[in-house]
Amino acid sequence: MFDLNSLTLDEKLTLLTGKDCWRTESLGGKLPEIFMSDGPHGLRTMTEDWKTLPATAFPTLSALGSTWNKVLAKEMGEAIAEEAIERNVDIVLAPGVNIKRTPLCGRNFEYVSEDPCLAGDMAEQYIEGVQSRGIGTSLKHFAANNREFDRLFQSSEVDARTLREIYFPAFERALRAKPWTVMCSYNLLNGVYVSENKKLLDGVLREDFGFDGVIVSDWDAVVDRAKALKATVDLQMPHTDNAFDTLKAAYERGYITDEEIDASVQRLVALAEKVISNKSKRKITRTKEERHELAVKIASEAAVLLKNEGVLPLKEGERIYVGGKPAKTGAFGGGGSSYVESEFKPKDLAECIKECGVNAVYQEAYFSDDGARHGFYNLRGGLARAASADKAVIAVGFDRYTDCEGTDRTTLKLSPIAVEFIRSVAKANPRTIVIVYGGSAVDMSEWIDDVAAVIYANFNGEGGNEAIARVLTGKVNPSGKLQESFPLCLEDTPTGSYRGNGCADVYTERVFVGYRYYDEADMPVLFPFGHGLSYSVFEYGGLSVKEKGGKYEVSFTVKNVSSVAGKEVCQLYIGAKQSMVARPVRELKAFDKIELAAGEKKKVVFTLSLRDFAYYCEELDGWRTENGIYTVSVGGSSRELPLSAELEIKLSADEQPSQRVWA
Ligand code: BGC
Repeated sequence: MFDLNSLTLDEKLTLLTGKDCWRTESLGGKLPEIFMSDGPHGLRTMTEDWKTLPATAFPTLSALGSTWNKVLAKEMGEAIAEEAIERNVDIVLAPGVNIKRTPLCGRNFEYVSEDPCLAGDMAEQYIEGVQSRGIGTSLKHFAANNREFDRLFQSSEVDARTLREIYFPAFERALRAKPWTVMCSYNLLNGVYVSENKKLLDGVLREDFGFDGVIVSDWDAVVDRAKALKATVDLQMPHTDNAFDTLKAAYERGYITDEEIDASVQRLVALAEKVISNKSKRKITRTKEERHELAVKIASEAAVLLKNEGVLPLKEGERIYVGGKPAKTGAFGGGGSSYVESEFKPKDLAECIKECGVNAVYQEAYFSDDGARHGFYNLRGGLARAASADKAVIAVGFDRYTDCEGTDRTTLKLSPIAVEFIRSVAKANPRTIVIVYGGSAVDMSEWIDDVAAVIYANFNGEGGNEAIARVLTGKVNPSGKLQESFPLCLEDTPTGSYRGNGCADVYTERVFVGYRYYDEADMPVLFPFGHGLSYSVFEYGGLSVKEKGGKYEVSFTVKNVSSVAGKEVCQLYIGAKQSMVARPVRELKAFDKIELAAGEKKKVVFTLSLRDFAYYCEELDGWRTENGIYTVSVGGSSRELPLSAELEIKLSADEQPSQRVWA
């Protein structure tokens, strides 16, 4: 046990800020230095001379979200931790669970979902995976950092109920895996910098959610080190020359106390001890090739088959035209601190399709060299090839320049040149299949009716083209589902093109985020949250809801009624039939991905607690489950729920606030 009294005041204050950009202070060897590197979808380790070391580029966190596969989330965490072990990294700065409030957010590719249940449960497994290998995580960015525009200055203005129901629960769920650290965000929340927000950090995160680890600032998120310390930010990152002097002066004038300093130092010492005591868990079980294969596996489960008018899977003997720049280069990830430098040379999609046994040829017909300067190249040649092929596969989408940390997108549409390319190819060959890459929803209204099939690939890492080839040819049966709604257009989204006025970003849509908004407004969408097709057909049946000691057990069966094996994501939603407050029509409360052989039937069981039926009541300052009837719906998408049952919750009068009964 390290004795805090062995440290002088100056040493303690020194410890509260990083030694450099990535390391904590060692105080001349008294404590081990802790070395941090970015995630979340691969390791971005930087050397002292600012070189990024290569690592496996996994599909982005949003792609992981599209797999809805908790086992894969854990495996991805383990594999990234193994690379951390090889690089002597102690903490991976990941995962991020900010809610995708608007599809414009430039960092959406780094986040899991628009839904807190999906985001939280996937992040929980990711953390389990990393930490099972003795490496720490940093759950980020707490809280309400939902766009990049003006992220250092703008205040997210969010009411308490919305925070508790939408923006906090992904963190709350992920905290079950006990991340070693939590990273606080850049923005202000309701007028106060998050890094100085004691109510949020000490009150909600520590007291309500029981987090007892280290709160680390986002890089340069601290404005005033002393105020941040009072809010229980233990570690300011990166090193800043004036942090020590600010703390010392604040101590001398009595603004910060010995207790506050010691509490943070104690947590930092405990973290250093955790790093040491977990070293025995550091195990590497995968080779570099196996990590690449895992990246391919995740990318193939992340591919969401949005539309298929009988053209997929591709068949042996067919001749396929392949076009579009990502078919050559892949689309590894978005830009910014999470960008992974992979050593892997992207594989050509046409070559990958050939490896899967189908004849394909790439003809360059379109290029976009840096996202800003788009141009056509040999369009006529490509169209001639497309016209004479049995089917055409074209890859289009966003890239690391359009989807990038620090900026937001301005449109949901593909570039005009990409749209023209899709339309021209579709005209030349009506059996055109479009692969779309991106970190968020895409407006496909200008071209979707012209094409026969669409796969939303997300940004799918270094194994992307191998994965897409497997899905196209049926070597892998698609099983990805959208982790966010695809609206018809930007104007249909709850926030539209509004991005705040540079001071305040008002969350006027309240709890009606993503599908909660479209369902409440009863609006059509391009593709709903949870949507994704398969080459199999699944049949749901036998729904039963039973109360068991204050919990509710929901069971049902899923049968694969097709002749091909496949995977289905079973989703359970809850809605209150009546309520004293405005509540979403339905909300995801549980999900599972199951594998079914042709003809196989499986039983799925979910257990719900009273909290799953509750809303956050600001007046009671707590969760309230109202008496009444609730609908439990089950199915393969938020708008395709073949099973539905009602259940009544009847809590005793003592457990409920007074309610008038209208005769
Ligand atoms: C990002 C964090 C990242 C940190 C270190 C910040 O700009 O917001 O997510 O971990 O930089 O690179």
